[in-house]
Amino acid sequence: MQTFVVQHPLAQCYLSVIRAAGTPSHDFRRHLNHLARLLFLEATRELPVQEIPVQTPLQQTSGAQLARPLVFVPILRAGLGLLDGILPLVPEAVVAHVGIKRNEETALPHAYYANLPACISGADVFLLDPMLATGGSACEAARQLKEAGAMRITMLCVVSCPEGLAAMKRAHPDVPVFTTAIDDGLNEKCYIVPGLGDAGDRYFGT
Ligand code: PRP
Ligand code: URA
Repeated sequence: MQTFVVQHPLAQCYLSVIRAAGTPSHDFRRHLNHLARLLFLEATRELPVQEIPVQTPLQQTSGAQLARPLVFVPILRAGLGLLDGILPLVPEAVVAHVGIKRNEETALPHAYYANLPACISGADVFLLDPMLATGGSACEAARQLKEAGAMRITMLCVVSCPEGLAAMKRAHPDVPVFTTAIDDGLNEKCYIVPGLGDAGDRYFGT
C-alpha cells in the first residue's frame, strides 16, 4: 500500500487551524473543506481522461472529460466534512454512504448503515474520512466497498498515524492513502496524538 503525504504549505497552515483546540466549528468546517480539496487534487493527478471535441465561440478544439465515473464514499459522520469540500469540484459524482461508529469503550468499529450503488465496480472510488486512528473504521469500509464490487479505491484522510496506516496496509494493500499528516500515534483511548480531537464533534459542533 502506498501512502502519500501532501505537504503543500497551505495544507500545513489549514491543518494548524483545525488542530487548535480554540477553533470554532465554523472555522473548523471551512479549513477541513479546504484540506479535502488539496488532498483530492493530489489524489486525482493520474485520473484517466477521454479526449472530446469542444466548439469554442471561435473554432473547434479538443477538450477532456473523465474517462470513468467517480464515487465519493464518506464514512459517517466526519467523512461528510471531506465530501462538502470536494463535491463542488465534481458535482456529477455519485455519493454513496457508509455509516460506522467506533465503540467508545473498545474502539472497535460498529457498522450501522451502507448505501452503495451498482456503478461502484466501474468507478474510481474515493473513501473519505478525516481520521485514520486504529484503522478499524477505514478497513471495514474498504471491505464493504470491495464486497459491493469496487476495484479502484483511494482513501483521503487528513490526520493519520502509524497504527492506522499499518492496519490498512495489512488489510488493503491495494488502497493508496493520501493524508496531510502522519502523527505520533494513539493515546490510551485510541485517539490520535497530537491529533485534533473528535473530528465529527468538532465539524458538527456537537
Ligand atoms: C471517527 C473518525 C473515523 C474513526 C477513526 O469516527 O471519523 O471514522 O473515528 O477511528 P479508527 O481509525 O480507530 O476506526 P467516530 O467513530 O467517532 O464516528 P463519528 O464520525 O460519527 O463521530
Ligand atoms: N476519531 C477521531 O475523531 N479522532 C481521533 O483522534 C480518533 C478517532
